[in-house]
Amino acid sequence: MIVERLLAELGPDIVTAGDDIPDRNRKDWSGLPPVLPLALIRPRNTDQVAAVLRLCNALGTPVVTQGGLSGLCGGAHPLAGGVALSLERMNRVLSVDPTQATLTAEAGCILQTAQAAAADAGMLLAVDLGGRGSCTLGGIISTNAGGNQVLRYGMTRDHVLGLTAVLADGTVLPAMNRLLKNNVGLDLKQLFIGAEGTLGVVTEAVFRLHPRPTHSATAFAGLPDSAAMLALLARARAALGPMLTSFEVMWPSFYDVMQAGSGAAHPLTGRHGVYVIVEAGGFDPATRDRLESLLAEAMEAGVVEDAVIAANLREERALWAVRESVSQYPRILGPITPFDIGIPLDRMIAAVAALESRIKARWPDAQTLSYGHMGDSNLHLVVNVPSCGAAQPTKEIKTLVYDLTRDLGGTVSAEHGIGTLKRDVMGHSRSAAELATMRTIKAALDPRGILNPGKVFA
Ligand code: LAC
Ligand code: ZN
Repeated sequence: MIVERLLAELGPDIVTAGDDIPDRNRKDWSGLPPVLPLALIRPRNTDQVAAVLRLCNALGTPVVTQGGLSGLCGGAHPLAGGVALSLERMNRVLSVDPTQATLTAEAGCILQTAQAAAADAGMLLAVDLGGRGSCTLGGIISTNAGGNQVLRYGMTRDHVLGLTAVLADGTVLPAMNRLLKNNVGLDLKQLFIGAEGTLGVVTEAVFRLHPRPTHSATAFAGLPDSAAMLALLARARAALGPMLTSFEVMWPSFYDVMQAGSGAAHPLTGRHGVYVIVEAGGFDPATRDRLESLLAEAMEAGVVEDAVIAANLREERALWAVRESVSQYPRILGPITPFDIGIPLDRMIAAVAALESRIKARWPDAQTLSYGHMGDSNLHLVVNVPSCGAAQPTKEIKTLVYDLTRDLGGTVSAEHGIGTLKRDVMGHSRSAAELATMRTIKAALDPRGILNPGKVFA
């Protein structure tokens, strides 16, 4: 019924049904089994999105919005009996304004495309993450994605000045603010950032741009242990101030497995207790010198054992190669249980040690890969138990990790969001009153519960 109505209103160019729905739209990166939705809808503009929601709301049909499909928590995973709404055709950069320092684009625009458009105008779109070549602006807005430069530039929320959202009943809510300061009442755009498509469908957005740094330098360092990692972070903050753009950490549990598995070159001669990528950027011609002095002083203090600084862009990408090999997990590790927890830094070292040892005590052959955005207190842990094959003890692993995260005052999701996979543990990191208020907002904006039902909200 809904498919006929959608076809009648939008035509076969926009609405695809049944076996014609491409495999890629039947799943995301959550690892959940593929699901065939009733229809795949690929609108070309906001009015068509509004038409879809109006019809689906009238008939009570679930709508799952899809961007680049690289989310890890099931937020874009389709639902049987619902429609998938892919914004892949709404992929244009609409304008770049260097004077106001903004970029306006459609939500299906690939992040890398938007970054390139900003760069062409001599500006910087400062959200960046490994999935830049596939993730969309709507996807990073809907998950409030983090990435590799959060400690300098903030999460996606900090980059969005305005957006257009379509509400559950088809009402278009234009909120394309371009001003850095705009205090007129509630800042409604915030409702849709990090809401994973449960409160509305974001169709366009205005991003804030930054001046493009004229100088940058990237170092790869080997450190003796985790305590040295925290000491280097403190030194890097003090020595580089706002020039510190990335502080990425890889423990050998991650580094050795992914370096061997990806075949990427090891930039240092020896092996170390912890590996750190430090990136500095700014407008000081002495940026590289300052990074060099930081490392030299850290070496003298025994905080760093060995380090290299990239001489050019090619070398810089090579220093990131193992860190950015994470999309190869399925090939290298097989089935995994991944985490993006946040832990206060004063408890981070104990957390990494406790998580790795408790998992190994329970499953002796378990692989536990620890790494993450330590400048943001964000730990990625990836677990695979080879002896369990396809039947990974996911539930038990999650309980162990999330309970410890809660006990240490951490968060069950630092940057990937909730989807379906973390719904049951939101109470570990949010108060009952916060969760109740979230449900009040959901009920007000989506009274029929058609927007990504079962995601975020139980
Ligand atoms: C990363 C993704 C998984 O940082 O968040 O590698
Ligand atoms: Zn990450």
